[in-house]
Amino acid sequence: MFPSTRLRRYRKSKELRKMFSQPFPGSEKFVWPVFVIEGRNREIPIAAMPGQSRMTVDVLIKRLEPVVKSGIGGIMIFGVVENFQKSLDGSYSYRKDGVVQKAIREIRRNYPGLVIFTDVCLCAYTKHGHCGILDKNGDVENDRTLVSLAKMAVSHAQAGAHSVAPSAMMDGQILAIRNALSKAGFNDTLLMSYSTKFASNFYGPFRDAAASKPGKGDRKGYQASFRNLKIALKESVEDEKEGADILMVKPALCYLDIISKVKEKTLLPVAAYNVSGEYSMIIACAERGWGDLNGMAKESLMAISRAGADMIISYWANRYENIFLDKT
Ligand code: PBG
Repeated sequence: MFPSTRLRRYRKSKELRKMFSQPFPGSEKFVWPVFVIEGRNREIPIAAMPGQSRMTVDVLIKRLEPVVKSGIGGIMIFGVVENFQKSLDGSYSYRKDGVVQKAIREIRRNYPGLVIFTDVCLCAYTKHGHCGILDKNGDVENDRTLVSLAKMAVSHAQAGAHSVAPSAMMDGQILAIRNALSKAGFNDTLLMSYSTKFASNFYGPFRDAAASKPGKGDRKGYQASFRNLKIALKESVEDEKEGADILMVKPALCYLDIISKVKEKTLLPVAAYNVSGEYSMIIACAERGWGDLNGMAKESLMAISRAGADMIISYWANRYENIFLDKT
């Protein structure tokens, strides 16, 4: 008899559709990445990322109020410094009075319930824009870079970060940071590894925002290749062994398969980073009148969640309520 299976039965009404739907990720699963600059009362919109800006800490504290009210779980802090503060070794990154360290202290004071993550990488602090210290040949020197990353992570923990998140893709960075944290007495600081981080073409708008574009060359010598699945997965497996508390796949949308494969290999929480290019391309599409902004955002976030992400780091986090206002 034709057809005994009629799947449209589940979709006949709004109420039925709702009943058979998986939940959207809650606001508490979201982490909002923010860019902080020095000074007071300054906010510079980021052209390549409409809806996002570089802010001084006092402005960020104001902007956070509605975001915290919407129940967002945390923020991820990126520092943006002036050219004269950059150096060959990126040593500004571990100053006690650096812009990130100051931001951590202020945010903790104002919003004690917000989970603070910090990006640990040298690229925004080096003159050449690479994620580590260069050797004579212009290659990033892995083991020397570890020492600086460890100092940076400890300085963030000292300022009060709940979780440090190394993104430099140096070998051994998790172990080096874990040891340094424990030596400094920070046994409770979470270590979220950007464990499977690809050399992606979707970081463009971010590099504009953070002024962290490499002057010469690219990051293919340290970030993972999207054409080597096994090594990409091994990156996460190794970071778990080194002592990471949270693993991460980055970017998210082109790598939904990797998110679910990493989940099969670990019992740790897995975060997904919905990166700048993934955000900006949806906005650009909507601005041209080619699609509904909130609809596209909602659908892509649901996909990331369905792939298995336990947490989502996303620039959509500061408008969670708009995107998910309509819960159907
Ligand atoms: C630092 C870092 C980058 C991003 C997060 N941390 C840039 C890069 O690796 O080039 C990208 C985030 C985004 O595109 O939203 N290494």
